[in-house]
Amino acid sequence: MPITEELLALREKTLAAITQARDSSALEQVRIGVLGKSGTLTGYLRSMGQVSAELRAQVGKATNEARMAVEAALEARRAELAAAELAAAIDASAVDITLPGRAQQIGTRHLISRITDEIAEIFLGIGYTVAQGPEVETDYYNFEALNAPPDHPSRGLADTFYVRDLTGATASVTGESDVLLRTQTSGVQIHVMEAQKPPIYIIAPGKVYRRDVADPSHLPQFTQVEGLAVDKGITFGDLKGTLDYFCRQMFGQDRKTRLRAHYFPFTEPSAEVDVSCGICHGEGCRFCKGTGWLEIMGCGMVDPNVYGYVGIDPEEYSGFAFGMGVERIACLKYNVPDLRMLVEGDMRFLRQF
Ligand code: DAH
Repeated sequence: MPITEELLALREKTLAAITQARDSSALEQVRIGVLGKSGTLTGYLRSMGQVSAELRAQVGKATNEARMAVEAALEARRAELAAAELAAAIDASAVDITLPGRAQQIGTRHLISRITDEIAEIFLGIGYTVAQGPEVETDYYNFEALNAPPDHPSRGLADTFYVRDLTGATASVTGESDVLLRTQTSGVQIHVMEAQKPPIYIIAPGKVYRRDVADPSHLPQFTQVEGLAVDKGITFGDLKGTLDYFCRQMFGQDRKTRLRAHYFPFTEPSAEVDVSCGICHGEGCRFCKGTGWLEIMGCGMVDPNVYGYVGIDPEEYSGFAFGMGVERIACLKYNVPDLRMLVEGDMRFLRQF
């Protein structure tokens, strides 16, 4: 085949390949194959010296024309592909405003916090203020100044989390570390009476810790609300009236309360408070284990020995204290059968309140 015809065929073949190139890199391969260092058309340009003189002008012209046609086609296809690739990239990265948004999981106020606030509101309404104390406490505030004898069972390793003493400070009378996680909020009574002279009307909400395995009625960490009233002329009648008022506010006006004699080291006399069962109204049912009553807190008149630790004169002042478990009150109020449901973090359960 004469060279000019070869060139024409090459030109047609290359133009077809250019039109068929699917993307810029395929197009680049075509370009290299034709116009690269060892490209087919480059080969013809290089070998021009071997073409006979009479043909040279003709072949040179055909080669140049082929090169120009190929370059123009390459350029046109390159622009076409670049535009298409840009459009595709924009499409792929664009925000589709017709898609529904990703919903944020919004939590709810936890039932334990809500009931704690509800208890506080009731007492704030009758002149109490809110006090706080540390959760990591010393033996003195958690037991000793609360008149708990050294051999009291709650001081043992089986009931109390002791914090290992790395400073080498002295151990307490029980031989355990002096530092512990408070087992009750009652120690706040001591902090408050040390800092403040009567009249005192405080409640102290907060977390407490005990070495219990979680079961339907026990949690190793739970919440208490302590109460303390110390003033001139406070009587057991004031205690009963206050707690009666509290129970009706918390559980409903139709609920009754009763006190049962009990023992607490820091109160004398001491009692446990029951509220009438809201399900059977005192008749006896499964919820109240047939008794008609539900135990909700401990209470009593502050023991004169406790005043001795904080320098309050028991001849001049008297007072009462009480302490309740928030989780227990929450469960009684909403008929929740198992305390553990409150701490499992199951939103389907928690959202109901
Ligand atoms: N601290 C007691 C407990 O954890 C509850 C209690 C009982 C608190 C009688 C009091 C009280 O203030 O007077 O079991």
